[in-house]
Amino acid sequence: MKITSALLFLLCLVWQVPAGAVSNAERSEHGMVVSANAASSAVGVAIMKRGGNAIDAAVAVAFSLAVTHPTAGNIGGGGFLVYQGSEGSPVAYDFRETAPGASHPEMWLVDGQYSYERHHLSHLSVGVPGTVAGLYLAWQDAGSLPWADLLAPAIEQAKKGIVVTDGLARSLEHVLPRMQKYPASVAKFTNEGTPLAAGEVWRQPDLAATLKRIADKGPDGFYRGRTADLIVAEMQRGGGIITHEDLAGYAAKRRAPVRGSYRGYDVLSMPPPSSGGVAIVEMLNILEGYDLAASGFGSARSLHLMTEAMRRAYADRARYLGDPDYVEMPLARLTSKDYAAELRGTIDPEKASFSSPESFTWPAESKQTTHFSVVDKDRNAVSLTYTLEYSYGSAIVVPGGGFLLNNEMGDFNAGPGLTDSTGLIGTSANLAEPGKRMLSSMSPTIVNRDGEVFMVTGTPGGRTIINTVLQTILNVIDHGANAQTAVDLGRIHHQWLPDVIEMEKLAFSPDTIRMLEAQGHRIEEIDDQGVAEVILVNDGVLEGGVDRRQWDGGVAGY
Ligand code: DON
Repeated sequence: MKITSALLFLLCLVWQVPAGAVSNAERSEHGMVVSANAASSAVGVAIMKRGGNAIDAAVAVAFSLAVTHPTAGNIGGGGFLVYQGSEGSPVAYDFRETAPGASHPEMWLVDGQYSYERHHLSHLSVGVPGTVAGLYLAWQDAGSLPWADLLAPAIEQAKKGIVVTDGLARSLEHVLPRMQKYPASVAKFTNEGTPLAAGEVWRQPDLAATLKRIADKGPDGFYRGRTADLIVAEMQRGGGIITHEDLAGYAAKRRAPVRGSYRGYDVLSMPPPSSGGVAIVEMLNILEGYDLAASGFGSARSLHLMTEAMRRAYADRARYLGDPDYVEMPLARLTSKDYAAELRGTIDPEKASFSSPESFTWPAESKQTTHFSVVDKDRNAVSLTYTLEYSYGSAIVVPGGGFLLNNEMGDFNAGPGLTDSTGLIGTSANLAEPGKRMLSSMSPTIVNRDGEVFMVTGTPGGRTIINTVLQTILNVIDHGANAQTAVDLGRIHHQWLPDVIEMEKLAFSPDTIRMLEAQGHRIEEIDDQGVAEVILVNDGVLEGGVDRRQWDGGVAGY
C-alpha cells in the first residue's frame, strides 16, 4: 500500500499534478512572487536573481504595482507587511495611514448630519500616506540591495510605459466618472479625455519623477521637499487638511506579529491597527476543536461551524479593536485557546446562533486593495497587503506628482454615537483623532511548520479579507489543498452583522445551502470574494496559487 502511494506521488511529481488536489499550481525552486500583476511579479523575481532577498523583492514589487496596478498599488496609501526571516524574530511593519493633525471625531458631520461624501470621497477622506515610510523601514532592517536599485524597475515602467491590460482598461471605465472633477486624474488616466484602451502603451512621467525623488532621497523624497509641496498644494486647493507637519511627522512602526497555532502549525499575522490577525487566530482557535477534515470541504457542517466562528470573531472585532497607540485591547484573551473553548461552548452544532443587532451593522466597503506574497532562496518570506481603500482611492491624483491619494479616513467610524441600523458605526475605539490609525481588516499572514515558513497568504476585500485568509489556511491544513486549489475553492463570509452568510455563486451545492437554511442561516449569493495570492513551501519546492478572480495576476518564480 505504501509502495503504491509512493509510486503515485512520484508520478504526480513527473506530471506536475499535485497529489490529492484539483488545480495545477506553478512551482519553482529558488524564489517566488505571486501578485496582482504578472509584470510586477517578474520584477520581484529579477531582483532575487540579482541577489536580492525577499524584502528587496517586496519593495521592488510594491513600487512596481504603484505603476502597473493603480487600483490599489500605491505610494499614496498605506498597508502592512509581515516578515519572517530565515533567522531572527518575525516582524510586522505597520505603515497604515494616519489621521492629519486637524482631525476630530465629528469631522464627517455637516450641520450635524453625517456626510458619506465627506467621509469617503472628499479631500478630507485622505489619510497621511504610509507606504513609502513602511517600505523604507523594512528595507533598512532587512534589505540587501541599494534602495535606488529597488525603485529602478518601477521608474522604468513609469517612464517607458506599460501596456494597458484589459483589466486596467475595464476598471478605468468604472472610475472615470468619479475622476471628472479632478483634472490631474483625468489627464493621467485618459488620452485628453479618451479612456486608455487595452493594448496601448501608457506612460506616467510625473509618477516616474516622483519615484526618482524617492529613489534619490528615500522617504524625504516623498514626505518633504517637492512631493510634499505638491500634496499640500492639492490639499489646500480641495479643502483637505494634510499639512507639511503631518507629512514630515509620519512614522512607520515595527510591531510584534499576532501569533497563534492551528493543528501544530504556527500562525503569524498582522496585529492592530489591523483587526485581521486577532480575528484569524480567534477563529482558528475555535475551529481547532472540530474535525473539519472529517466533515469535508463545503459540507453543511463545516460551513456552519466556520460561520459561527466568524460571527463571534467579528463581534469581538467590532467591540474591541482600534489603534493600539490609542485604545486598550484584551488581545491576549481574544487570541487564547481558553477563550476559544468558552466560545465553542456557545455554538450549537445543529443550529445557527443569532447576531444581536442591538448595536450596529458595518458599512459597505469596496473591493480594491492588493496583496502579494514573496519567498526567496533562503526561505525569507514577506506577506504584504496595501491599499488606497476604494478602487483608485480618493480618485485624486496629486497634480505634478502623478500618484493617487487614498481615501482611508473612511475606515474611521462615522462619529460619536452615530451607530444605527443603516450601517453607521459610532463606537469610540475607532473614531478619528489626530495622528490615529484607522482600523483595518488587512491580514498579511505567514504560517510556519517546525519553525520554517510553510505558507504565505493574504488578499484584498475589505472586511472579507479576514475570512478569505482563514479559508486559504483551512483549505491547505484541513483539506489538503495545494496552493492553487487553496485559492480556487469557493469562499463564504459572515461578519456578525448583517446576520447573513455570503456564499460565492456556483461554489457550493444547493443541498448544502438548503441544509444551512434549515439550521436557521440566511444565505446570499455573491459573485466572488477576495483575490488571494498564496505561496506554499513543500519539501523545498515553492508552489504558487494566483487568484483567477482577478484580471492581471501572475506567479513568477525561478
Ligand atoms: O484597511 C482596510 O481594511 C480597508 N481599507 C481595505 C479595503 C479593501 O480591502 C478594499 N478591497 N479590496
